[in-house]
Amino acid sequence: MNAFSRKELSPKLFFALSAVLLAGAVFAQQAADAVAPEAATEGSFEEISPAVAEALASKAAGTPVTAQNWMVAAANPHAVQAGASVLEAGGTAADALVAVQTVLGLVEPQSSGLGGGAFLIYFDAETRALTTMDGRETAPLEATPRLFQDDAGEPLQFFDAVVGGRSVGTPGTPALLEALHRRWGKLAWGPLLDPAIELADGGFAVSPRLAGLVENDKERLSRFETTANFFYPNGVAVQAGDTLQNPEYAETLRAMAAGGADAFYTGEIATDIVQTVRNAPGNPGVLSTLDLSIYQVKERAPVCVSYRAHDVCGMGPPSSGALTVGQILGTLEGVDLAGMGPESATTWQMIGDASRLAFADRGRYMADADFVPMPKMGLVDPDYLSERAGLLTEGAALTEDAVVPGAPDWDHAQLWADDISLELPSTSHISIVDSYGNVASMTTTIENGFGSRLMVRGFLLNNELTDFSFKTHADGLPIANRLEPGKRPRSSMAPTIVMKDGAPVLAIGSPGGSRIIGYVAKSIIAHLDWRMDVQQAVDLPHLVNRFGTYDLEEGTSAADFGPALEEMGFEVNQRGLTSGLHAIAIGSDLQGGADPRREGIALGE
Ligand code: GLY
Repeated sequence: MNAFSRKELSPKLFFALSAVLLAGAVFAQQAADAVAPEAATEGSFEEISPAVAEALASKAAGTPVTAQNWMVAAANPHAVQAGASVLEAGGTAADALVAVQTVLGLVEPQSSGLGGGAFLIYFDAETRALTTMDGRETAPLEATPRLFQDDAGEPLQFFDAVVGGRSVGTPGTPALLEALHRRWGKLAWGPLLDPAIELADGGFAVSPRLAGLVENDKERLSRFETTANFFYPNGVAVQAGDTLQNPEYAETLRAMAAGGADAFYTGEIATDIVQTVRNAPGNPGVLSTLDLSIYQVKERAPVCVSYRAHDVCGMGPPSSGALTVGQILGTLEGVDLAGMGPESATTWQMIGDASRLAFADRGRYMADADFVPMPKMGLVDPDYLSERAGLLTEGAALTEDAVVPGAPDWDHAQLWADDISLELPSTSHISIVDSYGNVASMTTTIENGFGSRLMVRGFLLNNELTDFSFKTHADGLPIANRLEPGKRPRSSMAPTIVMKDGAPVLAIGSPGGSRIIGYVAKSIIAHLDWRMDVQQAVDLPHLVNRFGTYDLEEGTSAADFGPALEEMGFEVNQRGLTSGLHAIAIGSDLQGGADPRREGIALGE
């Protein structure tokens, strides 16, 4: 019996008797059966350590990793192991983040690294305060709003914009790592880069995921000599299990170990980055050494929304992550999702419609609030969200003409046109809890898989500028997320910490472009409403609705909801939905979950 047919037979009876816990466990088990972890190359990850082998087995079994003192969950076992070593040595979550990110930049270069940007939310156990840090890439000062338009003012094709120097924004990740370490680090900076340096010098086994992506992107990666030589030595794509060394990356990290982020933003490395961007064959960009030298990490107040007596907190503008996740949850606050349970098609209709309304607001209003006025507080105001909730009808999808932006209270009056921008997934998420009770949740990216495809000094450069709207105006109105010099492109990254009575209870986030928002909101609902443990919540098959079609994760029980959702008025579509959720639940112990759709693990002690 599948999830949908159970609902059809006896929905009320089922949920009255089963309690939500049981329903969650059943659906999550289906998820674990349906979403198989990516196969590991024989002898690759398991050989890192017995603890890694155990964590992989736990993930395959669909059970969370548990620990008492500290935990780290991220997208690659080498990176997780590096973070674990730091935490074991008494390092803070901030220290561990530096080690995890620098190893990820080596072993998962397609997703994040020194050439990209990141957002962090951090709970400081000493002050009990939540802080967010914005390490987003920034538009070069020479960039114009028409950067992604042709001579006739028409938007470029997406990959014509992405591949090459045009899409490269000023990287923020190196500055963010330094800033968070200065603020919350306990161990010395230099040695935190050692795990990545050693692995870059000695070589690491190419993972099946990386090998598959290299194989599939040959035409674009081969356009640039440095990139081609790295991923296709002697013209042949690196294979899973091959030992890949990256001495240039090791050299870059040695310079940063000695000279901090300055070694990246000024001097020879900065000059090389700029030359690579400005001389990119066929599609040069406009990044300058001035852009690099003036880059700043911005500390911002977190955006928090109340949901089920918890505070769901994350990154505000320029990310749309926390606002849109918060809007979805806030709109559903009055809906009895716990009673309806995950087996009900009506549950997913309500979640889908709340998401569509939130995405309508996101498209119109959300952008870098340092550049455009935004109704930031109005968008998550409880009265506004209950007004939006009043538009929903249980059992009947909103008609297309009802899915329109609302009229939240403005900080300043302004009228924007709806955004037209396309975000494709790469990205990576890291969750960490240290033995002092500090919590870090960071989502990190170079935007598209392999970013701009330009490689310099052992790392790939981002294509984050393509997260701006390619068009500047629509219907005579400006678009809030249009490109402007010095502005940060709107993101969907949603690094999240959920608080209960002033204490953190969950750290979570995911890659996935604008689907990040759906993945994170759904996992929070699974954990808080359906009482799934973090591994069950992460495993749960995806149903994601942004605008347009309702995307159901193919090959899973989520697809079984298709006919019922269609009957309610949705257009549905089955497709792969490759999230990369990494979550840690914080209670009497720590429980970690890693997404079976990618190669990551959770590790703790
Ligand atoms: N480039 C993905 C994001 O920032 O949402």
